[in-house]
Amino acid sequence: MPATIINRCPQLRQAVIPRLKKEADRLLAAHHQPGRHVSFVLVSDQEIQTLNRTYRNKDSATNVLSFSNDAQRDPMLAVTGSHELGEVIISVETARREATELNQPFLLYLVRLMVHGFVHLIGYDHERSPSAAQEMTAMEKKLLSTTITSFGRSHMIKLAINVDHVATIRQARLGREPDPVIAAAQCELAGAVGIVVHLREDRRHIQDRDVRILRETIQTKLNLEMAATEEMIAIARDIKPDMVTLVPEKREELTTEGGLDVVSFADSLDRAIGELQDSEIPVSLFIDPLESQIEAADDVGATFVELHTGTYADAQGDDEREEELDRIVEAAATAFDFGLRVNAGHGLNYVNVGPIAAIEEIEELSIGHAIICRALYVGIDQAVREMREQIGYGIEL
Ligand code: PXP
Repeated sequence: MPATIINRCPQLRQAVIPRLKKEADRLLAAHHQPGRHVSFVLVSDQEIQTLNRTYRNKDSATNVLSFSNDAQRDPMLAVTGSHELGEVIISVETARREATELNQPFLLYLVRLMVHGFVHLIGYDHERSPSAAQEMTAMEKKLLSTTITSFGRSHMIKLAINVDHVATIRQARLGREPDPVIAAAQCELAGAVGIVVHLREDRRHIQDRDVRILRETIQTKLNLEMAATEEMIAIARDIKPDMVTLVPEKREELTTEGGLDVVSFADSLDRAIGELQDSEIPVSLFIDPLESQIEAADDVGATFVELHTGTYADAQGDDEREEELDRIVEAAATAFDFGLRVNAGHGLNYVNVGPIAAIEEIEELSIGHAIICRALYVGIDQAVREMREQIGYGIEL
């Protein structure tokens, strides 16, 4: 049974509408309402304030209003068709403010409001009595847990941790400490589901010895980042990591500066991927969120793409950040439609990770610098657990 999403708020990116539609359809399917239809209308603070004043005598903006079409149950009848179960009106501006205050991914918070409004439509009302409030919360939890598979339920986004910077500190003295192998084990104990290391041609941080020992000790998954050179391909085929992520590499750069140009280097990447796949190593290509690069990645036979989030992370101001986020949302959907598996990473931190973690098609995030920096202050265990909270594992439903 279809739901309709109507976006009347210019501040809401059009790119998120299909995502919200999918969540709304799941919601209606989870609570079977034969033949009925619900409209979710996304509006500004000004518009919701007018509705709140007109229908509830409250002259202020609010986060969500539900207008049931069941006149007996709810006299605040909205102008809807006879198959309408009702309308849920959500203020995008209030939702954004509240999501920020609660430190929750904006999209997740919007879906929570959709659920809240929907539960009102089906007859629950927390304002009636304390026990009615309890019943309503129970129904919201039930619907959230059965419908929102992408937000920390059956399909949790995974966290892989890059431990290069532990090796960077060790290499500052060319000694034995700190050891990225020990750090990797601690990351796994704290819930990381993969360890990433970048073996660079200049060996500035991770050493060959690290990769060899990690191959023996890692309990989850070893993702070897590397350039598509003959030397690195030989090392990968010998060590057999669980996957390889091919990245562009420049000696003079401080960190990876952009995605691979798969379009221009299709032939050599095709060859490199073929050789790695011959050794049964799945390959991910680190690319900018562009359709042309995604299509080329598919053409050369990559299993995964890792979408470069660095430009999003470096964006100045809300508008630029939203624009970059849009590009990643669209690229993730495009890659998924091509049948590619989708990861993302670079420059993600505790503040900016939420909206990326909320993108349904992304399976795994690769995060290094922010976690290792925080670990200096609070320890690896806490730093990893806090990041897991941020990406949605730990959100209380
Ligand atoms: N993904 C790739 C391909 C990278 O090269 C890096 C940096 O080594 C990361 C993810 C992690 O980036 P950050 O350290 O900024 O979290």
